[in-house]
This record gives sequence, structure tokens and C-alpha cells, in this order.
Amino acid sequence: MPKPKIFVTRSIPKPGLDRLEEVFEVHINASDKAIERNALLEAVQDVDALLCLLTDSIDKELIDAAGRLKCVSNFAVGYNNVDVAYASAKNIVVCNTPGVLTESTADLAWALLMACARRVVEADHYLRDGLFTGWEPLLFLGNDVFGKTLGIIGMGRIGQAVARRAEGFGMKILWHGPRPERDDLPAAYQWTDLQTLCQESDYISIHAPLTSENHHLLGEKELAWMKASAILINTARGPIVDELALIKALQNREIAAAGLDVFEQEPAVPQALMDLPNVVLLPHIGSASIETRNKMALMAAENAIAVIQGKEPPARLN
Ligand code: GLV
Repeated sequence: MPKPKIFVTRSIPKPGLDRLEEVFEVHINASDKAIERNALLEAVQDVDALLCLLTDSIDKELIDAAGRLKCVSNFAVGYNNVDVAYASAKNIVVCNTPGVLTESTADLAWALLMACARRVVEADHYLRDGLFTGWEPLLFLGNDVFGKTLGIIGMGRIGQAVARRAEGFGMKILWHGPRPERDDLPAAYQWTDLQTLCQESDYISIHAPLTSENHHLLGEKELAWMKASAILINTARGPIVDELALIKALQNREIAAAGLDVFEQEPAVPQALMDLPNVVLLPHIGSASIETRNKMALMAAENAIAVIQGKEPPARLN
């Protein structure tokens, strides 16, 4: 029997590729770049499974071009790049990689929060520029983290992992999400409406998935509710925040700082954002630890293998 075929849209860590090789005839975009749309449309024509990235748009056109496709295995927990409803209509199973990246992504959100609070990147540049002439009482005064209030938008796995870190910093935890009644959260975590969360938080960290309901969830009005000393962290998806409104709020010092791992039009980052000293900008590396990316690669491989073998995959979305 010939092996089923899988197309992998860009090289992933070796443990995942090795596992795929055991079951599939593996075809891969071997270039060191995101695959071009036309090349992807062509590559999926005769494959049984597709292992794709959050930068690949798995829309109706692509699904229609892939007549034999049985599984879309997304190498990410977020899946706003996949038209899951259309895939379901075509009997294609869609999978993602939840769980394995929770702690790494929470670590990165925390790194951004600490970096913004204590102006770590700005101070590093200052020193490298040869401006450090000795200890100064007023040099790079930042904000304390310990004992402050953290507002978490989206209290799923990653939101909860960030909250656990905040407990170690003696923080009060507010959260906002569509289901206030939750018996799986510590009683000390307080659900609030979005306005209260914006008004009362010293730090706000976003951990919601991108859906049509929360596109621009934080815009001009919500940013104006925030304290002038508040810091916004986004490691979820760029379009949850209105980027132009955020730039204005930062320029006018309506909020103190922002730490961003995600952007509205990735990989484009507005020059106005890059020109601001009070932001820390990262190239979407939330889950980018060696261990986690290995686990994601294995999970994405196991998802595709299970579907092709008619078994229940580790993380099925439809
Ligand atoms: C990364 O952004 C992911 O969704 O896994």
C-alpha cells in the first residue's frame, strides 16, 4: 500500500518530521520562507493531510483546491487562519496544538510585562549607546509589579497560567471573558466587565482567541478607560487591539507602555509603533522555546496521523 501524502508548509522541529515520515510520504516547503499562496494551492492538490502554520490561510479556495484532503493540522493553538466551518462541511478534520505551549506563552507574556514595567529594553539601548555615566537617583524609573492589579482578558489555559505567575507577585487578579460563571478558577480571581477591568488594572494581558466578536475589542474608548500608568500586553492576536488607537494612546501617554508579540498585519509593524520608546516589540515568539516547539511538532504530527488512521486525534476542533 502506498503511504498517504502530507504537505508540510514549512520546516518544523525534527521530532515532528521524523514521526510523520513513519506514516506519510512527506512533502515539504524546503525554502526558508513562508510558502507563496500559489505554490501552496498547487501543493495541496493531491495530499491527504496538510500540516500548516498560522501564517497560512486555509480558506475556501484552498480547501476547494485540495480535493483529497482529510486533515488540516495547524501548528499553533490559535486557528483563526483556518475556515473550520467550511472544512467541517467538506468532512475535513481540523486540529491544533493546545496545552503544550501554555506555560511558554505565559512566560513570554510575563517577560513582556516585566520588561515594560521596568523599561528593560529602553535601558539596555541607553547603556549600549554609551549614555551610562553612573548611578542616578532618577534613572529609568519604572512601575512596580508586586502587589499591583492584573487584568486578564481571556481566562483559558494561557490566561490561567499568567494568573498563576501573578499570584507569586502578590497581585490582585481581575479577568474578563464571555463566561463569568466558572467553578474551575480560584475564588480570588474576580470577573469584571471590560470597562471595570480597564479602569482598575495596572497591567492588562490579552489571552483570548481572535474571533469576529472580539476584533478590536480594545479600541479608542477602551484604551481611554485605562489608567495613564497602565501597561498593555498582547501575546494573543494583533487584531484584538485597534493598533492605530493604541499608537495614539501611547503617543499621547494615555497609557504608559505596551508589550506586543502580535500585530494587526503581521509581519508588518507600523513605523509609528517602532518609533515609540515605551513599547517592547517581539516577532510573534510566544511559544518559541526549544522544548515547546518540539512538543508542538510532535502533537501536530500525531494529530495528522490519528486522523489518517481513523483514530481520535489529540486535539480536534470540529
Ligand atoms: C501562536 O500564536 C499560536 O496560536 O500557537
